Amino acid sequence: MGPIGVFDSGYGGLTILSSLVRHLPRHDYIYLGDNARAPYGPRSFETVYAYTREAVRWFFDQGCPLVILACNTASAKALRNIQQYDLPVWAPDHRVLGVIRPTAEIIGGYSKSGHVGILATDGTVRSASYPMEIHKFFPDLHVWQQACPLWVPLIETGEYLDPSSDPFIRKYLDSLLKQSSLIDTILLGCTHYPLLAQRIRQFLPASIQVIDQGDIVADSLRDYLERHPEIRQRISGVSAGAGSRRFCTTDRADVFDREAARFFGATVQSEHIRLSGESGW
Ligand code: DGL
Repeated sequence: MGPIGVFDSGYGGLTILSSLVRHLPRHDYIYLGDNARAPYGPRSFETVYAYTREAVRWFFDQGCPLVILACNTASAKALRNIQQYDLPVWAPDHRVLGVIRPTAEIIGGYSKSGHVGILATDGTVRSASYPMEIHKFFPDLHVWQQACPLWVPLIETGEYLDPSSDPFIRKYLDSLLKQSSLIDTILLGCTHYPLLAQRIRQFLPASIQVIDQGDIVADSLRDYLERHPEIRQRISGVSAGAGSRRFCTTDRADVFDREAARFFGATVQSEHIRLSGESGW
């Protein structure tokens, strides 16, 4: 038995972890932010795959039978290869899940107009993972995408709270809405963006709903564990009360602790770890 691993390029996945621990509090969790190498958004397919692969191997070394890639960019660029090529060789009885599929499965249900907007990193948009996955479940849905490369830096630095960041927030919303005036649902397809949700809503008509992924991913994981008792039985946790949470970062732990609360909604105490590439396997 072992904890659930939750991975992100940096802090963003803490917004997902926060929903996971709210919905499934009894499990043990390990969070890893690859802060030393964030952001992943502008990086190539090969680089994101190599980094994410290292992280997954690290989680397996920690005894995690299940790893959630709580990063859209890693889910878009690394998940399929890891599931297809690495898992069967490393640990066929382990599972690695992403955040794009569970979102794609239900996003069509939110829209009345049949036009959905996706805001995400450049990497996620270029991968076209959202339109591809969504069309498997909602073939007639119109999916419009907009990359927002300035948002992760604005969020990580805390600058998004300053009114001087307004033009940078509006810029991408305007570009998205210019693509279709029928969009009535906007998905925040990057785990950092929930911090911007309030600011984003300020600039949108009330008729457009803004969806973030935390609760979607948590509901989907609960469902998954119900359908897969063989995985559920291997996830550790206490039978009553809250399970354990361990926070790790590839960069400075003191900086992580200072910034993480904004994303997680509670203070955390992290430890620094190194991702050692291919060693140990
Ligand atoms: N958290 C990542 C995501 O969900 C974005 C941050 C980054 O660019 O590393 O796509």
